[in-house]
Amino acid sequence: MKNKSDDKEKTNDNCMNQQCSKHPIAHDKKMSPMYTEIIGECLEMKEVFQTIEKVADTDSTVLITGESGTGKELTARAIHSNSSRRNNQMVVLNCGAIPSELLESELFGHEKGAFTGAHQPRIGRFEMADGGTIFLDEIGDMSPGLQVKLLRVLQEQCFERVGSVKTIHVDIRIISATNKDLRKAIQTGTFREDLYYRLNVIPINMPSLNKRKSDIPLLINHFLEKRQAHSNKNGNHKKMFSKRAMETLINYQWPGNIRELENLIERLSILVDSHTIRYQDLPEKIKEKSAIRNTIPESIMERNWPGFNQAVDQFQKNLILQALNQTNWIKAKAATLLKMNRTTLVEKIKKMDLESFENHREREFTPSDQFYRPGEFNISHLLRTEKPTISITK
Ligand SMILES: Nc1ncnc2c1ncn2[C@@H]1O[C@H](COP(=O)(O)OP(=O)(O)OP(=O)(O)O)[C@@H](O)[C@H]1O
Ligand SMILES: [Mg+2]
Repeated sequence: MKNKSDDKEKTNDNCMNQQCSKHPIAHDKKMSPMYTEIIGECLEMKEVFQTIEKVADTDSTVLITGESGTGKELTARAIHSNSSRRNNQMVVLNCGAIPSELLESELFGHEKGAFTGAHQPRIGRFEMADGGTIFLDEIGDMSPGLQVKLLRVLQEQCFERVGSVKTIHVDIRIISATNKDLRKAIQTGTFREDLYYRLNVIPINMPSLNKRKSDIPLLINHFLEKRQAHSNKNGNHKKMFSKRAMETLINYQWPGNIRELENLIERLSILVDSHTIRYQDLPEKIKEKSAIRNTIPESIMERNWPGFNQAVDQFQKNLILQALNQTNWIKAKAATLLKMNRTTLVEKIKKMDLESFENHREREFTPSDQFYRPGEFNISHLLRTEKPTISITK
């Protein structure tokens, strides 16, 4: 059934007109265009970009950690593409996807007759990556036996093929990734501590999408542009999200991180016929979970939760300021919007010393604002009016 408020849903044509923000490394002509697409402006991503720039042209091992779908492989590719090894291969091996008996021959290669079924000699991934980079994904799933052999490659850059005594020397850069907590794995004895330190010379932690909500509009815009570019239909215009749909996506927790977001945008771009994707077009799961989150301020879940009284003060302050901004500081109108007595509002403005904010009333939320700043709440949903309370325009 259609929700009444859906009818009121306003489209904010500006909401997706912002330019996608790609980091400077993304414009580096030397990079393969396929790997120029790392989107992010939040502080954590800026740190990731800085690290990529600093380490790319070194041979140091890099360990990329982060939840599934946060961009670990994309980051590994950006490192390789920005290194002087870029003209050689980046070989990818998912250590979790291959049974450990086969992983050894996959990594090191084998000689003919090394084991049943080895009818031909075969070079392994380390040899393929000679001069380039090897990306060992899901490194936490590697068996202890292979961990020892990998340690030797890291220390001496040499190994033997399975079934051979001939030592092969390679020049490779090793980047690995995991969504597991390797420190815990060390404690439980499933991961070697010495290997961990060798792999973790440069650590990069990819932030979960839930921690970088201010990047969600940028990512959505990027994926919409990508869909448009891939679309076969002539004259297909880039779709947009209504303000309410966008807020709902920002509020959602994204357990599958950027991969989940990307897949959703692809699905909606194909299935929604109209130019604007609205709240009612979103999957029920996202609408439900986002609604629950809307009622729980993010800050409660943060470590720097200021305490109940301070949080309530801050909440009141924000609510009043937003109402005043929406009504152009006409206090009677703001009081009506807040469903409170005008004199009570005036008293509160004085008590909270809010007069000085009047000069800044033109200021609206922009994409560069954190939607959830520590100690502040996003309370726009409490003040739903025809006028957008959050402008996602640059
Ligand atoms: N910052 C980003 N900007 C644009 N696209 C991104 C970004 N991060 C990830 N993606 C996209 O999200 C998808 C998942 O990224 P990637 O495969 O690098 O994640 P991952 O962390 O390696 O995931 P997993 O742990 O499941 O292997 C890819 O399609 C990738 O292009
Ligand atoms: Mg991956």
